[in-house]
Amino acid sequence: MKAVAIQAFGRPEGLALIDLPAPTPAEGQVLIANEAIGVGGVDVVIRRGVLAGYGFKEGHVPGSEVAGIVTAVGDGVDTSWVGQRVWAFTGVSGGYVEQAIASVEHILPLPANLSPVDAVTLGSSGMVAHFALAHAHFAPGESVLVRGAAGSIGIMTVQLAARGGAGAVAVTTSSAERGDRLRKLGATHVLDRSGEGGEDAPEGYDVIIDIVAGADMPSFFAKLNPNGRMVAVGMVGGQPPADFGMTMMAAFRKSMSFATFSADTVAEADRRAVRTEQFAAASRGELPMVVHEVLPLEEAVPAHRKMDAGEVFGRIVLTP
Ligand SMILES: NC(=O)c1ccc[n+]([C@@H]2O[C@H](COP(=O)([O-])OP(=O)(O)OC[C@H]3O[C@@H](n4cnc5c(N)ncnc54)[C@H](OP(=O)(O)O)[C@@H]3O)[C@@H](O)[C@H]2O)c1
Repeated sequence: MKAVAIQAFGRPEGLALIDLPAPTPAEGQVLIANEAIGVGGVDVVIRRGVLAGYGFKEGHVPGSEVAGIVTAVGDGVDTSWVGQRVWAFTGVSGGYVEQAIASVEHILPLPANLSPVDAVTLGSSGMVAHFALAHAHFAPGESVLVRGAAGSIGIMTVQLAARGGAGAVAVTTSSAERGDRLRKLGATHVLDRSGEGGEDAPEGYDVIIDIVAGADMPSFFAKLNPNGRMVAVGMVGGQPPADFGMTMMAAFRKSMSFATFSADTVAEADRRAVRTEQFAAASRGELPMVVHEVLPLEEAVPAHRKMDAGEVFGRIVLTP
């Protein structure tokens, strides 16, 4: 079968189309004929080689979420899965292939009206956005700032905060055009990357969901209202400054909170329940998906070039 592997860490050109034997599902696993493969930020980070210290090696097949038809099951798996269209989490590898293996615990049937492309756009980002807002104890009526809103997690956070009755949903983004698109998804105020701009934007926020971190993190933390909560979900802008802790302590009397959030700490049953609910909402047209582009699997290199160039608004999806 066709697959794409990272033959050399670094530039997108290190990705290559290879031939692999079709896999056989082991006990507890299913085999999926892929119809859509999500291109995630983590695939890009792994390709750059910066996670080599965590055991990633050249030859790695990236990709962590796919959707398609179950064509075979391993021992112990209900054979009624065969023929069903599912979304699947494949872990940190194994997605960029024609036929993927997933544990039966990590697959979910797709509602009839949800396309495989939409499923791999929503599957991980929607769940992360939901639990990040929950981790921040977001409540209706509160003001929310989403930092790094133009990525797949940010887009879902904007939509969920708006649907959840936020009093205001401010976003940071690098262009007016992206700001307009975010407004259509529920943003009420558009700020630039440094937090400036945004006519009539709130003076302070009850909740900040931060996908960026980096040097500006302290100035955003300072935008929290008393009892406000900032939750760091990603670090696309790098580490915060070493004295970030001092900023927090300097604001002692405002009772503000800072937390990190990783979906790794959410129980599988809870992730499943939220994904099921979100897939149903998307299939009813209540949760629009933002697909940047659909490209053939053979075009994984241009897909990664676009990711590197920061051109992507929403999700790039590959099809075998
Ligand atoms: N916590 C979890 O459980 C979890 C799960 C999955 C992934 N993640 C993390 O989430 C992140 C990826 O999320 P994503 O795919 O939604 O993000 P993304 O698309 O990589 O980035 C989000 C947006 O941030 C802006 N941005 C990029 N670089 C920036 C910089 N240096 N300074 C300021 N803004 C910048 C860009 O928008 P503009 O150009 O419009 O500003 C970009 O679209 C990664 O850090 C990943 O590790 C976390």
